Amino acid sequence: MTIIILLLLAYVIGSIPSGLWIGKLFYNTDIREHGSGNLGGTNTFRTLGKKAGLVVTIMDILKGTAATLLGSLPFFESTNIHPLILGILAVVGHMFPIFARFKGGKAVATSGGILLGYNWPIFILLIVGFFIILKLTKMVSLTSMILALIALLYSVIYYFTVEHDLPLIGIILIITIFIFYRHRSNIKRIKEGTEPKVKWI
Ligand code: G3P
Repeated sequence: MTIIILLLLAYVIGSIPSGLWIGKLFYNTDIREHGSGNLGGTNTFRTLGKKAGLVVTIMDILKGTAATLLGSLPFFESTNIHPLILGILAVVGHMFPIFARFKGGKAVATSGGILLGYNWPIFILLIVGFFIILKLTKMVSLTSMILALIALLYSVIYYFTVEHDLPLIGIILIITIFIFYRHRSNIKRIKEGTEPKVKWI
């Protein structure tokens, strides 16, 4: 029973639609009706500005971190669930949120949050990488997909040089597939040259 509660909780945490709730609560705006229509941090930046965008991005990251660390709470310790399984459930919740008719974000920030909770050096590397690649591409979507590939490469190098962490490679591979799948419309726009570019970097 405890294990079911733990798995459900990880999904429910991931399901919190930060962009939707912040937009509706503080700006009286449904961000799904603006910009890309996505419920993530990027579309919140685009629609509601820097402050809201930053808050939503941080909240989305922390959902992944919280779910990943959930299993280490005394109440759940006996379940012995791998933290990455809990993290990936939060990402599933983020993409298909029970609180927003199962239409959620594109898996990027919440996946980053898993890595923050599980192996923070990768997270720091990805944050630095984010700004460098965004400076070059000006497209958050393209940057996100490149970062997923960098994380995958890192996990393979980590396996051979530091620790044989196969679950890390497996979960990052799944995340990479999720991220590319959720960015189908962005990929189409990138090919057509119509993907929006950010100006602030
Ligand atoms: O994190 C999502 C981002 O990579 C793309 O968002 O709104 O431009 O489709 P958006």
